[in-house]
Amino acid sequence: MEKMTIKPSGPLRGSVRVPGDKSISHRAVMLGAIAEGTSRISGFLTGEDSVNTARALAAMGVEIEGMGGTELVVHGVGLRGLKAPGCALDLGNSGTSIRLLSGLLSGQGFGSTLTGDQYLRKRPMTRIVKPLSMMGAMISGQGEKNYPPLNIKPSGGLNGIVYSSPIASAQVKSAILLAGLYADGTTTVTEPMKSRDHTERMLKYMGAELREDGLSVSVTGGQKLIARDFMVPGDLSSAAFLMVAVAVVPGSKVTIKDVGINPTRTGIIDILRLMGARIAIGNVRNDGPEPIADITVKHSELNGIEIGGELLLRAIDEFPIICIAAAAAHGTTVIKDAAELRVKESDRIAAMAGELTKIGVNVLETPDGLIIHGGTPIRAAEVDSHGDHRVAMSMAVAGLIAKGGEMIIFDTENIKTSFPGFIELLESLK
Ligand code: S3P
Repeated sequence: MEKMTIKPSGPLRGSVRVPGDKSISHRAVMLGAIAEGTSRISGFLTGEDSVNTARALAAMGVEIEGMGGTELVVHGVGLRGLKAPGCALDLGNSGTSIRLLSGLLSGQGFGSTLTGDQYLRKRPMTRIVKPLSMMGAMISGQGEKNYPPLNIKPSGGLNGIVYSSPIASAQVKSAILLAGLYADGTTTVTEPMKSRDHTERMLKYMGAELREDGLSVSVTGGQKLIARDFMVPGDLSSAAFLMVAVAVVPGSKVTIKDVGINPTRTGIIDILRLMGARIAIGNVRNDGPEPIADITVKHSELNGIEIGGELLLRAIDEFPIICIAAAAAHGTTVIKDAAELRVKESDRIAAMAGELTKIGVNVLETPDGLIIHGGTPIRAAEVDSHGDHRVAMSMAVAGLIAKGGEMIIFDTENIKTSFPGFIELLESLK
């Protein structure tokens, strides 16, 4: 089991780029695979999660040049060109891979099995199994919550549905929209709040017609996608670890270049600003379907705030690192409406409550969040990632300002699922 040792740090300074956006990398290679023609994707995330998506598509006959690197050439096979994989598709730790591919594979004329690592096999899939079954898909998982492995049998064809999702989840929305490409008629998904919209943006970029109306989005089946070249922006969810590190380490100032600033993802910028962080967004431009910018963060004193609702949804993956900002801030931070975090790569509410306690932070766990009383010194300790990449990187950032020695973080292997080179990048700023 890999471990990581973090020493207290002096000021962080410099200008860096973070790896490509994970959500966008998945979608770029999936849609490129079923498009007509050849797409060149640059800045693809070489993390295990997105590479697992690419490998799964290659196992279904899609020729992908540059596999494992940041520059991919995807030879699209068209909507109906995927071939039956010879074996189960192993998607490792990646919830996005398994849920989006389930949508894509539900509409195929061949069967498939989708599985993953010990953590993925504990994540509930009923949220996609239910709507996909309503569309006529023959999909099932294990037990009451439909845990992976998921088995998909060839169906007699899908039909469009009108579905009101009980949760705001881009994975659910995207699975349904991808299945909708294969369905007869129109498929409409409505969500209670707007989740990230990368699928919608990329579908439109590749020539699909979508109808968006408030919190609803509709797609009509049978539409051809046209291959497009595409640059994946840096992942704001990876940049978030650096942003908080810079905000909490005195004397720091760092610019992170070419980061995606899709408004459905920028909750972390708003939250840190509300806490008192000094963040400047410059060089804003649109490259393809997604807005991109350079983000400069300077150290400042932070204050506790209340975070819930849409603000939290727009920073859903940033919960662990927000906890570290809250621990370093003066006063109390209340995080609520976060029950979904109990079914992420780990139960992130319980994991962060436990690990924050180990480093001397006064924290109270609630059913849907945490109450963190910040401002007392963070203590170096031995902590655990719970097998979760974002918990591991958050505890590393806490180590930069810990008192009393080195922070030792156990089980840090999963960092490579989303942020290969994280520790090297952090070191380069010291
Ligand atoms: C993702 C959607 C979110 C997010 C995940 C990536 C995506 O999950 O937490 O890391 O790329 O669609 P949910 O759809 O479960 O909220």
